[in-house]
Amino acid sequence: MKYRYLGNSGLAVSRLCLGTMTFGNEAWGCDLATSQSIVDAFIDAGGTFIDTADLYTKGESEVILGKALKGKDLTRLVIASKCWFPVDDTPNGRGLSRKHIVEACEASLRRMGLDYMDLYQIHGPDPYTPVEETMRALDDLVSAGKIRYAGCSNLYAWQIVKANAAAEIGGFTKFISGQYLYNLVRRDIETEILPACVDQGMGVLCWSPLAAGLLTGKYRDREEVFKSDRFSAMTNLRDRYVFDEAMDLVELLCAIAKETGKSPTTVALAWLLKDKAVTSVIAGARSAEQLSDSIEAGAWDLPDEAYRKLKDKLPHKHGYPTEWMETALVPSFNKTEDDPGRAQRFPPLFG
Ligand SMILES: NC(=O)c1ccc[n+]([C@@H]2O[C@H](COP(=O)([O-])OP(=O)(O)OC[C@H]3O[C@@H](n4cnc5c(N)ncnc54)[C@H](OP(=O)(O)O)[C@@H]3O)[C@@H](O)[C@H]2O)c1
Repeated sequence: MKYRYLGNSGLAVSRLCLGTMTFGNEAWGCDLATSQSIVDAFIDAGGTFIDTADLYTKGESEVILGKALKGKDLTRLVIASKCWFPVDDTPNGRGLSRKHIVEACEASLRRMGLDYMDLYQIHGPDPYTPVEETMRALDDLVSAGKIRYAGCSNLYAWQIVKANAAAEIGGFTKFISGQYLYNLVRRDIETEILPACVDQGMGVLCWSPLAAGLLTGKYRDREEVFKSDRFSAMTNLRDRYVFDEAMDLVELLCAIAKETGKSPTTVALAWLLKDKAVTSVIAGARSAEQLSDSIEAGAWDLPDEAYRKLKDKLPHKHGYPTEWMETALVPSFNKTEDDPGRAQRFPPLFG
């Protein structure tokens, strides 16, 4: 297993993070015994970073994770959870108010049987709560010793920068990470969010890095995908991941896997990790056997040529203003050598 620092923070994490959304899920997940074997296999392989949320299986994922961690040396692990989704039907049982953040954090710690967690992430943006209130509440949790670091998930790029600016002004802790949907068939974050995270010194954590199983190469046509447990239960995933170009990409992924002697799963995860802006990929599994291919990506680096072929197969269309930048910015700033250490990271304009 290889390790990376989470953004500009001093926190080192395994570059494979274990996702626990499957824990306790009857339709497309696994029970306590299997979850325990997944956690054991992950830690035995050198994995240190584990992600959960109060949302997953209505808190059951956190309960199971807490049981699976019993007797483990927590100082060697980095445990992350999240809040934001409704936990009940009251108006304060959701969102990012000081009241909810503190109560949700305490409830997550109780479910996991922990005194503190390492990374606490807001799961989405709250359109009603002032961002200063949210950042102050996260900072209070750091001061109270209940969390070590704060991160975000699913925010727009401008919201990330606004929140960190509010934290800077208030002297509060800033986000050290952004958890985002990123995989070979959904590269939306390359336009705004990934550059914003780099600018803000935040590490990117990729959720659904295998497109919920599509990029394992086990489905070779749409009908097979739709029949699977996950895609039958979560029909919104069909439009998100299953389209002609995505199925063509799976073919290339399988061919490259054959060439490199690795599984498509390993190659798909290693593709994301090729970019050092990505700190960790959050892979899910419903058995320890499934996890073994993902674990391999924790230590294996994809060759450059394979990376480039996959990158070029289904490029993300950035649209405006990137189109404008290509015609206006590139020719206007071409008098000096491109210096990646100095330039702000725009979508890949300079090749
Ligand atoms: N922040 C957010 O909003 C957000 C949203 C979603 C997820 N997450 C986080 O990201 C984690 C991962 O999400 P995800 O489960 O969608 O990720 P994923 O890694 O893209 O998909 C995982 C699924 O792929 C299949 N799979 C994995 N390895 C396999 C293998 N070797 N062979 C065959 N099938 C394999 C399994 O599903 P089947 O066996 O059912 O095919 C597994 O449950 C979650 O656990 C959670 O921690 C965060």
